[in-house]
Amino acid sequence: MHMYNIMHLRRAFIFIFFIFILGFIFLITRDSFLPEEDRNLTLKKINTFIKLDKKNVGCVQPKLSVFAPEIMKFVKHVPNIDCSKSKQDWVKCRESVCKIQKSVKQLYGPIKCTFTDIIRVDDFKLEDGQTVSSDDSYTLIKSDVVKVSCVGSSREKWSATLMGIRKDKLIQETSNWDEVSDNALKMNVLMFGFDSISRNSFQRKLPKSYDYLMNDLEGVVLQGYNIIGDGTPQALIPILTGKTELELPDTRKRMKNSEFVNSYPFVWNDYKDAGYVTGFFEDVAELGTFTYRLNGFKETPVDHYMRTYYVAALKERNKWPKLCAGDIPRHKVMLNAIKDFYSVYKSNPKFLFGFHGELSHDDYNLVQVADQDLTELLKSLKESNALNNTILILMADHGHRFAEIRNTIQGKQEERLPFFSFTFPKWFKEHHKTAYNNFVSNVDKLSTPLDIYETLKSILNLKNTGIADLSHRSISLFSKIPAERNCADAYIEPHWCACLEWEKVSVSEPIVERLSAVFVKTLNDYTYDHANVCERLAIADILWVTKLKPNEKLVTFKKNADRDGFVGEFSAKMDIKFDMYQIKVMLKPGNSLFEASFTHHKADDRIDLKLSDVSRINMYGRQARCIEDDFPNLRKYCYCKDDIP
Ligand SMILES: *[C@@H]1O[C@H](CO)[C@@H](O)[C@H](O)[C@H]1NC(C)=O
Ligand SMILES: *[C@@H]1O[C@H](CO)[C@@H](O)[C@H](O)[C@H]1NC(C)=O
Repeated sequence: MHMYNIMHLRRAFIFIFFIFILGFIFLITRDSFLPEEDRNLTLKKINTFIKLDKKNVGCVQPKLSVFAPEIMKFVKHVPNIDCSKSKQDWVKCRESVCKIQKSVKQLYGPIKCTFTDIIRVDDFKLEDGQTVSSDDSYTLIKSDVVKVSCVGSSREKWSATLMGIRKDKLIQETSNWDEVSDNALKMNVLMFGFDSISRNSFQRKLPKSYDYLMNDLEGVVLQGYNIIGDGTPQALIPILTGKTELELPDTRKRMKNSEFVNSYPFVWNDYKDAGYVTGFFEDVAELGTFTYRLNGFKETPVDHYMRTYYVAALKERNKWPKLCAGDIPRHKVMLNAIKDFYSVYKSNPKFLFGFHGELSHDDYNLVQVADQDLTELLKSLKESNALNNTILILMADHGHRFAEIRNTIQGKQEERLPFFSFTFPKWFKEHHKTAYNNFVSNVDKLSTPLDIYETLKSILNLKNTGIADLSHRSISLFSKIPAERNCADAYIEPHWCACLEWEKVSVSEPIVERLSAVFVKTLNDYTYDHANVCERLAIADILWVTKLKPNEKLVTFKKNADRDGFVGEFSAKMDIKFDMYQIKVMLKPGNSLFEASFTHHKADDRIDLKLSDVSRINMYGRQARCIEDDFPNLRKYCYCKDDIP
C-alpha cells in the first residue's frame, strides 16, 4: 500500500508537469485541429454509434464504493452469538416432530414433557390448545407452535416455546403442481430478507452469503433497485400488493373504523389460489410490518404464519442468553423454519416469504452474526436440490436508516438502494431464455418494489417478455425495461430517487482540462509498453462534459415529517464529498471517440478514472491492426503508427 502511494506520488508530479504542457498545447490547438468536414462527419458518426446518449439514459446510478471510508467508519466486527451459556435444549422440533433429545435423557434420566398447542386467535391474541404428555416425542398437527414443559427424574425442569412446521393433511392434499396453470413458470418462490440492508452493506456485512450467492448460485443482483418510500411497510406493501399504502384501504390503528390488512390484495393469495402452500415469517412481533402502526391480520393470511411463534416467544426472551432461543441463536429459528417448510412440503408448490429484522433493524453491524448460518441454509437448499425448482429472492426493504450514516451523502444513497437479488436454477436460463435475458438486461435499469410485485405475478402467469411499456409504473422484470426509464416513470419521488442528475459543464471550466489530461494520460499509460507501435494520443476535441450529482431533494431530505411516512421534511445540509463527471472526447490521431466517467474527490482534490469506466464509442476498424492479435485488450486504445489514411 505504501509503495503504491510513493510510486503514485512520483508519477503524479511527472503527470502534473505533463498536464501543464498538454493543457497548453491543447488550448492553442483545440479549435483549429480538425478541418470542418471532419467535424460534421464525426457528428454524424456520434449519432450513429452512440446508443447510450445521455438523453436516452433515464437513470445513472451513483457508483458507490463498497468500502468507502465515509461508511467504513461505522463498520465494526462483532463477536458471534454465544448460546452455550444456556442449558442444552431438552426438546427440539424438526419438521413436524418435536423430540426429547437422547443426550438429555442420558443426563437427566427418563424425562416427561407436556406439549400444549398454541392456537392463534388473531395477531395479538393466542390461546392454549390441547395438552398431551409424552416421554418421547410430539407431532405437530393443529399448530406450528407448541409450549413444552419437561421434568427430569430428579425434578430438574426445562420449558420453552418451540416452532416446527405442522403436517396439515388438507394443505398437503389440496396443493399440487397439477393445479398450477400452464402459463405459470411452475416454480417455488422463496423470498428471504433482512431489514435495513443496502446493496453495499450486504456485501460488507454478509460476505460469505454474498460470495456463495454470486459464485455458487450465480445470483443476479439488481443494481438499479430503488425504494419508493422509506420504512418497512413502504417497501413490503408495494412488493406484496402492487400498490402503495395510500392507494389501499385505510388500515391504521389510530383511525376509527379502519380495516384489517386482510383487505389488501396480497400476492400470496394469488399463489394460494394457484395451488401453492403459502408462508409468511416475520420476527420482532412488537414491531411487525402490519401490526405496529397498522391493524394487523384478523384471519390468518397464509398457511404457515410464524407471527404466532414470535408473539408466544416474546414472554420468554429474557430467559435465554442474549439473542438466543434456548441453545441456538434466535435468527436460526427462522432459518430452520424455512428449511422445515421446504422439507415438509417437498413435492408441493411453495411460496414463502421470510423477513428478519431483529439483528439489523437497530444495529448496523450485528447482522454479520447470521452470515455463516445463512450461507449454510443456502448450501443445504442447493445440496438437497430444492433450488432446482425455486426462484430464490434474497432481499432487503431499504438500506440502513441510522442517523449518523444518513448524515453522509453515500449513506443517503445507500439507504435508497437496498439489496435485491434473484437466483434462477441453471436450466431456467436456457428454458426461459428470453425472460432470463430480459431479467439480466434489467439489472442496471431502474427497478422498484412495484416491479417485484409484477414479477411475482408473472411467475404465475408469464405474459409479456417483450419490451416493457414505460407508461406502466410496475414492470415485470421478465420483460425488457427501456434504458429511458427514469424516476418519474417508475413512481419514485425525487427525494427517494438515487439516480444522479445531469448538469451541463462548460468546456471552458478549469476542471475540464484536468479531466481530459487524466483521460489522455490513463490511455497513454495503458499502451505505454507499446509506444513503439501505438501513437501517443492527444485530445482533438471535447464534445461535451456533464456533472452528475444527487438531486437537490435527496440532499436536503431530512426525515419523514409525519408518523405514517407519507411526506418528507427538507432541511438537511450536507457536504457532497465527490462529484462525478462524464465527458465525451475525440482523440487524435484517428478521430477516436470515447466516453469516460470520473470521480472528483473534493477532500484531496483528486480525480479518479478507472479504465473500466472508459468506453470507445466508434469503431476502431483497422486502426489497431498492429497489436490486435497479440494484445486484444489494447485494441480500443492503440492507433498504429504505420497507419496511413
Ligand atoms: C457542417 O455542418 C454545419 C451545420 O450543419 C454547416 O453549416 C456547415 O456548412 C457544414 N460544413 C461542411 C464543411 O460541410
Ligand atoms: C432440475 O430441473 C430440471 C427442469 O425440471 C430438470 O430437467 C433437471 O433434471 C433437474 N436437475 C436435477 C439435478 O434434478
